[in-house]
Amino acid sequence: MIPAAGRGVRLGPGAPKALRALGGTPMLIHAVRAMAASRGVSLVVVVAPPDGAGEVKSLLDAHALPERTDFLVVPGGETRQESVRLGLDALPPEYDIVLVHDAARPLVPVDTVDAVIDAVREGAPAVVPAVPLADTVKQVEPAAAPGEPEPVVATPERARLRAVQTPQGFDRATLVRAHGTVTDDVTDDASMVERLGLAVVVVPGHEEAFKVTRPLDLVLAEAVLARRRLNDGF
Ligand code: CTP
Ligand code: MG
Repeated sequence: MIPAAGRGVRLGPGAPKALRALGGTPMLIHAVRAMAASRGVSLVVVVAPPDGAGEVKSLLDAHALPERTDFLVVPGGETRQESVRLGLDALPPEYDIVLVHDAARPLVPVDTVDAVIDAVREGAPAVVPAVPLADTVKQVEPAAAPGEPEPVVATPERARLRAVQTPQGFDRATLVRAHGTVTDDVTDDASMVERLGLAVVVVPGHEEAFKVTRPLDLVLAEAVLARRRLNDGF
């Protein structure tokens, strides 16, 4: 499943983020192809902007996918969590494993997708791809008043921290239960499974699975695409 219903406020004004072009092709199409590149993926459910399901369906019809891959488009919701739940509701009964992948991570390599699928098949109820951090992370207290400096309260040991990416993989029943039980606001799906007290495991992510969030990320994504084209040409 690909949640693609966000507006992309941090990217600045323009079309919904998933529909912005990268190398002349909408980001969403890159993300769908990246998932469909895995032999383990037979259906891609795209959660479209609430008023953009028709447009997304035409886009998918216009861009070729591998023969073995089917797709479905459903309108999304106000929050990412709601969008994922709407995607889950639309999932046909025969699928036991669900991957949730941000449309905003259009360049994830197929090896990362396969590693997540393999770990779920081997029995993990929830799997996240992740990478070590480059920056040291500080936990802060909110500033006493707006404009005041923020006091640091802790510095977690960097070697034990991971930056988490997508696709995150789940045993379907576990993800459905998490979405039916956990109501707090979360920024990723695996944390809902953690709240249930179930094990979540990490597999290696990839630097090219970064999330396009701010304008500079578009520059990086274009550069990665240009490098791939160059490498494919030789
Ligand atoms: N998403 C979604 N439905 C929402 C909000 C987000 O399906 N109501 C999706 C986005 O389309 C994106 C993924 O969740 O693929 C990750 O979210 P994020 O990177 O935060 O994207 P946006 O919410 O679009 O960006 P911003 O927060 O800057 O507005
Ligand atoms: Mg967002």
